[in-house]
Amino acid sequence: MGTEVVVEGLTKSFGKQNVWQDVTLTLPAGEVSVMLGPSGTGKTVFLKSLIGLLKPERGRVLIDGVDMVNSPERDIYETRKLFGLMFQDGALFGSMSLFDNIAFPLREHTRKKETEIRRVVMERMEMVGLLGAEGKLPGEISGGMRKRAGLARALVLDPQIILCDEPDSGLDPVRTAYLSQLLIDLNAQIDATMLIVTHNLDIAATVPDNMGMLFRRNLVTFGPREVLLTSDEPVVAQFLGGRREGPIGMSEEKDAATLAREQRTSTSYAPRVLAPQLEPSPGLPPRAAVLRRRERVLAMLPHLPEPARDAILRSYAPAGTAGGAVS
Ligand SMILES: Nc1ncnc2c1ncn2[C@@H]1O[C@H](COP(=O)(O)OP(=O)(O)OP(=O)(O)O)[C@@H](O)[C@H]1O
Ligand SMILES: [Mg+2]
Repeated sequence: MGTEVVVEGLTKSFGKQNVWQDVTLTLPAGEVSVMLGPSGTGKTVFLKSLIGLLKPERGRVLIDGVDMVNSPERDIYETRKLFGLMFQDGALFGSMSLFDNIAFPLREHTRKKETEIRRVVMERMEMVGLLGAEGKLPGEISGGMRKRAGLARALVLDPQIILCDEPDSGLDPVRTAYLSQLLIDLNAQIDATMLIVTHNLDIAATVPDNMGMLFRRNLVTFGPREVLLTSDEPVVAQFLGGRREGPIGMSEEKDAATLAREQRTSTSYAPRVLAPQLEPSPGLPPRAAVLRRRERVLAMLPHLPEPARDAILRSYAPAGTAGGAVS
């Protein structure tokens, strides 16, 4: 089962530049979470901080009792093995075949025999739909295939925590839809805790159990998908609606005058329709996190805004009743 990741009061700067401050959230065990945020708000820095590759100045990242910020390097190194990381740029070795790229973490971090390595690599390649492409070089395949190879490589060490940095960038809409399904199917198969950084609104609407957003050096919000998808928080609504109007500008932040002018002229927007979350493909086991999440979210209910509360109750109502689930 996936491992819970507890982030407490995390603050990261590079020199004088503060990237974000006081970020606190919990990635619930085995659930899928998405982190949104305009370019440059520190999403990649956040992922790297979770696995201890970057060191925030303040705060803690707790995984099975190990603090990825402050624990001894030896403990951090061991705990890092729980992670599978899919980098933003794929980060494949150009001179190695896909097979060797995907086998790399096994050869580096385990003493497995070649026959066992072959079994694991082929199994993961099948999972991401790359069987038959073992011998290809990264330069000989499409961007979408490279993405999936990066995902397969992130999976070979049986990670309990999977971090994906913009897995959809450069993919066409159909491939992105396949990727969304692949992420949910993966979660059903291995019950790993997953955090996906993406700008893709379809993924945000249909894949995660939870969503968060970084903006102006802060975690604006983190919570159940229903909360963000029904939010009228200006920055969240603007981002999820893909609109120009709102606090986010081309250079991330708009000047106050433009914002004030917009607010005088803007009309209210139609409420978003909450798309149902994707289910695992037929034949796969149900996602183990679903029941745990249900209890967790129902316990939060009294503290949630009304639209989110309604959406959650509708999704959990037995099918066939008046407010039945729309899935
Ligand atoms: N190693 C580093 N040294 C100095 N500054 C850095 C370093 N890594 C990132 N930064 C800065 O931190 C900020 C956040 O960068 P980050 O890559 O995390 O953004 P992002 O949210 O992932 O953006 P995008 O959506 O474009 O990928 C940027 O201003 C970046 O220049
Ligand atoms: Mg990034």
